[in-house]
Amino acid sequence: MLKAKTIILGISSSIAAYKSCEVVSQLKKLGADVWVVMTSDATKLVSPLTFRTLSGNPVITDLYSPELSSMPVPHISLAKRASLILIAPCTANVIGKLANGIADDPLSTIVISSTAKKVIAPAMNCEMWRNPLVLQNVKKLKALNFDFIGPVEGKLACGDDDIGRMAEPAEIVGEVVSSLVVQQDLKGKRFLVTAGGTREAIDPVRYISNRSSGKMGYALAQAARERGSAVNLISAPTNLAAPLDIKPIKVESAGSMLEAVLDYYNSADAVIMAAAVADYRPVKAEGKKLKKKVISKQYAVSSIELEETDDILKTIAKQKGRKDRALVGFALETDDLIANAKKKLKEKDLDLIIANDPSTFDGNLIKFSIIDSQGKVKNYPKQPKDQAAHVILDRVSNLI
Ligand SMILES: Cc1cc2nc3c(=O)[nH]c(=O)nc-3n(C[C@H](O)[C@H](O)[C@H](O)COP(=O)(O)O)c2cc1C
Repeated sequence: MLKAKTIILGISSSIAAYKSCEVVSQLKKLGADVWVVMTSDATKLVSPLTFRTLSGNPVITDLYSPELSSMPVPHISLAKRASLILIAPCTANVIGKLANGIADDPLSTIVISSTAKKVIAPAMNCEMWRNPLVLQNVKKLKALNFDFIGPVEGKLACGDDDIGRMAEPAEIVGEVVSSLVVQQDLKGKRFLVTAGGTREAIDPVRYISNRSSGKMGYALAQAARERGSAVNLISAPTNLAAPLDIKPIKVESAGSMLEAVLDYYNSADAVIMAAAVADYRPVKAEGKKLKKKVISKQYAVSSIELEETDDILKTIAKQKGRKDRALVGFALETDDLIANAKKKLKEKDLDLIIANDPSTFDGNLIKFSIIDSQGKVKNYPKQPKDQAAHVILDRVSNLI
C-alpha cells in the first residue's frame, strides 16, 4: 500500500517513543521507505540504533553528520523526498516550535522546509496538553493543514488516568495510509461489514461451518477504512489478521452474528454482508462431546437434527430506516449463478448483490458480477480481492 512512498518519521522525547518502533515496523511492512529523525532528547529514551535497524536507513540526529554526506543539503533533500511527515510522538516543545516557525534542530528544520502533508501524534501529560499555550499552538497548526491524531485518554506515564496518551501505532499508521493512498470519498460515512464463515455448534468440540476464508469481507472493511469511512467489521472465525485500524467484532454463530448486526445497523450508511452465514444449525448443541460409539444413550448420535437459522439479510431488510441505507449481499452459487443471485436480490430487497462462484473460497482472487436493484448485471474480470473491494465500494458510494 505504501510502496514508493517516503515517510519521514519525527520522534521527540516522550516516553511513548518506544511505541514508534511498532510504527516503523508497520510502515515498513506496507512497503514505505522510512527515514527516522530524532530530537536529541529522544535519543536518551530509545537508541537511534533501534530505529536504524528497523527502518534500514540512517537515523538523522545531526544534519552535519558525515553519514549524510551523500546528500549535499540533507534537510532539503529529505524535505523534498517526503511523501508525508509524521511526528509520533510529538512533544509540547516540538508543537510549539512548529507553530512558531522555529527551525533549530534537524526535525523542525526538515518540517519547515517541506511542502509534504504533515501528521502529528501528540503525547504528553494531561496538564501540558490542556495548557492554553499548547492548545493555541495546536489550533495554529490545524489551521495550517497539519493533521492531528490523538492524544487519547488512558493511563499516562506519570500515573494519571487522563488525556495525553499517544494514539495507538495501528491507528497512526491507518491515518498515514488514509492520507496517502486513496481519495477520502467515504469520509463521514459508516460501513457495517460482515465476514467469515459462521460456526454452528454440534457439541463443545464440533461444529458445522463452510469454506469461507473471510478475505473478501476483510478486504472490503480495509478498503472502506482507507477511503475514510468508519467501519464496524463483524467477523465469524477466520485466520486473518485484523485489518489496519479496525478491531473486528468477533462472533461465532449465525445467531450471534445477527445480534451483532442489529447492534450496529442503526448507525450504518451501508451494510455489506460478505459473511457466509449458515442456513441450518443443529437443533440442540450438546453440552458434552458426543461419542463415536454408543456408550451411553444420552451422548451417542447417528444423525443430527437441523433447523433453519434466522435469515440476517431478510431480518435487516424489515428494520426501520431500511431505505436510509444501502444493503449489499453476496451470492455464491455452483450453478445458475446470475439467475440465483437475482432471485436472492429480490427476495431480500437488496440494493446490490455480488455474484461469485466457489473458486473464490480461500484464494486471493475473485471473478464477480454486480447486479443492481433493477437487475442490471455487470461482469468483472478475475482480480485481487483488495482491488475488487474498491470496485464494489465505487458502486456502493453512489448509493449513500
Ligand atoms: C522521562 C521523560 C518523559 C517525557 N515525556 C514527555 C511527553 O510525553 N511529552 C512532552 O511534551 N514532553 C515530555 N517530556 C519533556 C520533554 O522531554 C522536554 O520538554 C524536552 O525538552 C523536549 O525535547 P524535544 O521536543 O526536542 O524532544 C518528558 C521528559 C522526560 C524526562
